[in-house]
Amino acid sequence: MQTAVGASVDLIARHQHPGGAYPASPTYPVYGYCWLRDGSFIAEAMSRAGRTESADAFHGWCARVITARAGHVADLVQAARRGEEIDPRRMLPTRYTLDGGDGDEPWWDYQLDGYGTWLWALVEHTRRHEIDPAPYREAVEITVDYLATFGADACYDWWEEHSEHQHVATLGSVAAGLEAVLAIGLLDADRAEAAARMLARLRELIAGPGTVNGSLVKWLGSTAVDGSLLACLTPFGLVTPEVAEGTYQRVRTELRRAGVYRYLGDTFYGGGEWLILTAWLGWHEARTGRADLARERLAWVTDQATAEGWLPEQVSGNTQDPAYIAEWTAKWGPVATPLLWSHALFVILALELGESL
Ligand code: BGC
Repeated sequence: MQTAVGASVDLIARHQHPGGAYPASPTYPVYGYCWLRDGSFIAEAMSRAGRTESADAFHGWCARVITARAGHVADLVQAARRGEEIDPRRMLPTRYTLDGGDGDEPWWDYQLDGYGTWLWALVEHTRRHEIDPAPYREAVEITVDYLATFGADACYDWWEEHSEHQHVATLGSVAAGLEAVLAIGLLDADRAEAAARMLARLRELIAGPGTVNGSLVKWLGSTAVDGSLLACLTPFGLVTPEVAEGTYQRVRTELRRAGVYRYLGDTFYGGGEWLILTAWLGWHEARTGRADLARERLAWVTDQATAEGWLPEQVSGNTQDPAYIAEWTAKWGPVATPLLWSHALFVILALELGESL
């Protein structure tokens, strides 16, 4: 009999577009696009599950999408070098149509994290399966030029909010991507130097104003914590063990009910418990000698599946402000289900705990 882990992998594969893109959710009205953020972690899950063809197809799709915008990125980088103020609407999109287009529905663009996470996931995948990264060189160079220029700028965060801030999880995603490509030696000397300079700056920001009282904070200048910060600990490994522990403890005590909130005061469907973040907490616990707690997270995520075995984006049992549930349901329908990113984090946590496919 197929396990729930194997069923999740198959569900992701079934919904992957022939060109390689993963839709955020196949059923939810505004999620029929491919986000680099969701997609990169979904590809990471497929790569870990041994579905190399799926991860290869995603990375190939990203490379084509980015390479098709080479001239545009070069213009943006030159404009920045001339000291011009750049309208954020000119920056690369957060999500693309499944065939690689920009799409014409307005969205909360400009977000940088997905480009960093893509580099990170590409390097993880090529290393894990001993794949030659050379065919990705051009797309990697374009992405590095973009991130080495704009990587520390304010932009919308993982939750597509607060474009006026420098978000620590975003800075961390960009840092992780630059660090990963620097380590595989794919860049020429000038690019490597620019990437290393930006990486040093990001690390300074994360360890400096990005850390308050021994814990990472949501954005520079904030004292709040955010579930997305877990990525800076596991898998990105960007902070000291002390700061990782401080951040973990804050997320666990302040944001967890049974599952984990994105942040306190979230109003999207009233701010319920997110499956990806609960699995993420477990992923970090599994990596830090807390397998029992990690198993509890896995059991909780498993329990949220619908009768069809679909995992939603969030669940509303312990919602922070239930008054908003009706507002979002009227706007976009019920919570996105299945959310491919939820399935991906479930797969990652299950494999980390030694579950079989
Ligand atoms: C989340 C994003 C996510 C997108 C697609 C949004 O509601 O805030 O993090 O990328 O959905 O899943």
